[in-house]
Amino acid sequence: HRICQDPATHQPLAYLRLRRAIRNIVEHRDIEPGQALPSERDLSQALKLSRVTVRKAIAGLVEEGLLTQRHGAGTFIAERIVKPMSRLTSFTEDLRERGLSPRSEFFERGIGEVTPEESMALNLSPGSLVVRLHRVRYGQDEPLAIERSVVPASVLPDPLLVHDSLYEALEKLNARPRRALQRLRAVSLNAQQARLLHVNVGSAGLSIERRSFLDDGRVVEFTCSWYRGDIYDFVAELQTD
Ligand code: GLP
Repeated sequence: HRICQDPATHQPLAYLRLRRAIRNIVEHRDIEPGQALPSERDLSQALKLSRVTVRKAIAGLVEEGLLTQRHGAGTFIAERIVKPMSRLTSFTEDLRERGLSPRSEFFERGIGEVTPEESMALNLSPGSLVVRLHRVRYGQDEPLAIERSVVPASVLPDPLLVHDSLYEALEKLNARPRRALQRLRAVSLNAQQARLLHVNVGSAGLSIERRSFLDDGRVVEFTCSWYRGDIYDFVAELQTD
């Protein structure tokens, strides 16, 4: 709610100035994500502002997700992963771009006959074969998402061609998707999902369904993902026509 208010009319100038200063520190990476912010006292002395102002500015940025507070330990720059939404990239690429190493743990990596639901999602006729991947996706050994992918076996003939990255395997087969439709939905993570993602049951998650296509219109994948809401930001660039 706070960020939907018109700040200029509601907030004192010093508060806004401090917010901007902290925002700059975070955005220019003067302090790396995960590191502690200087104490309230140091900030108020360095910037010649009252402790009340400093406290309010910090609280505002905690609410926005830029900072996190751990009880008794202090205030830290939040570690969030920002993912631009308009580019058709893979989990592996998103993480590597940020200097993190991706890893998958597979629960399922097999081939079977398409179910009625899958045949609708992939535009396949009954009896066709599909490859199914069910995995937890990690970054730097921290679980970030759960993904279930279904790919027509006519595109990916052998599930073992996927070592870690699905898109890398598709690229080698000349079947990298060129276009995708994606649906995002807010969910609360159920017991099993929460356990796999190391968060509390009922934590916020983002459910993402992606249907990707080849140039000729064939569907390459139908993937349902559950991302941790406390770590992932999806950002879209919007343009007028
Ligand atoms: C993202 C998408 C999935 C896609 C996956 C591929 O997570 N939401 O739809 O299947 O990337 O990633 P990778 O190539 O790392 O397996």
